[in-house]
Amino acid sequence: MMSDKILIEKAEFSDLKEIVDIENASFTTDKFSSRQFAYLLRKSKAKFFKAVSGEKILGYIILLKPKNAKKLRLYSIAVHPNARGKGLAQMLMDKTLETAKKLNCQGIKLEVRPNNLSAISLYKKNGYCEKGKIESYYSDGSEALIMELKLKVR
Ligand SMILES: CC(C)(COP(=O)(O)OP(=O)(O)OC[C@H]1O[C@@H](n2cnc3c(N)ncnc32)[C@H](O)[C@@H]1OP(=O)(O)O)[C@@H](O)C(=O)NCCC(=O)NCCS
Repeated sequence: MMSDKILIEKAEFSDLKEIVDIENASFTTDKFSSRQFAYLLRKSKAKFFKAVSGEKILGYIILLKPKNAKKLRLYSIAVHPNARGKGLAQMLMDKTLETAKKLNCQGIKLEVRPNNLSAISLYKKNGYCEKGKIESYYSDGSEALIMELKLKVR
C-alpha cells in the first residue's frame, strides 16, 4: 500500500466517505460528523487537503482563514492508523506552512488536547509554541492547549 508515492492534493466532495473513515479511526470523542465534513468540503472556504497514495486517502488536514483574520487556523489533522509514523502528517504540516505563506498570514494557530503527545510533538517539531489554554474546551470538559507558529510577514 505504501509503495506508491504520497501526494498532497485538494480534497473533493467525493472524498467524503474515506475522510469520515479516517476520522472515526482517529478520534474517540469530538469527531467531526459526516455532515460537518460535507459542509467543509463543499460550501465553506476551508482549505481542505488530503494525503493520497495511489487511489487511497491516508490523511487529511483542514485549514481555516476567516475573512480579516491575520492567522491561519489549523482546524483538524488526522492520518489513518495504518499509515502513521511514515511522515504523512509532516507533509500535511509542510502544506500548511506553504498555504500560510501564500496567504501572507502572520502565524498559524491550533488547539490540542494536553495529553495528545504525538500531535504536540509534531507541532513542536515544526516550531509551534504553547500560547495558553482554554478551559473546558472539549466535550469531556478537558482544557485545550493553544499552540502557535509566528511567521514573518512580507
Ligand atoms: C498526530 C498524527 C497526525 C501524526 O501523524 P503521522 O503521520 O504518524 O506523523 P509523522 O509520521 O509525520 O510524524 C511527524 C512527527 O510527529 C510526531 N509524532 C508522530 N507520531 C508520534 C508518536 N506516536 N509519538 C510521539 N511523536 C509522534 C513526531 O514529532 C514525528 O517526528 P519524528 O518522526 O521525527 O519523531 C497522528 O498520530 C494522528 O492522526 N493522530 C490522531 C488524530 C489527532 O490526534 N490529530 C491531532 C488533533 S489536534
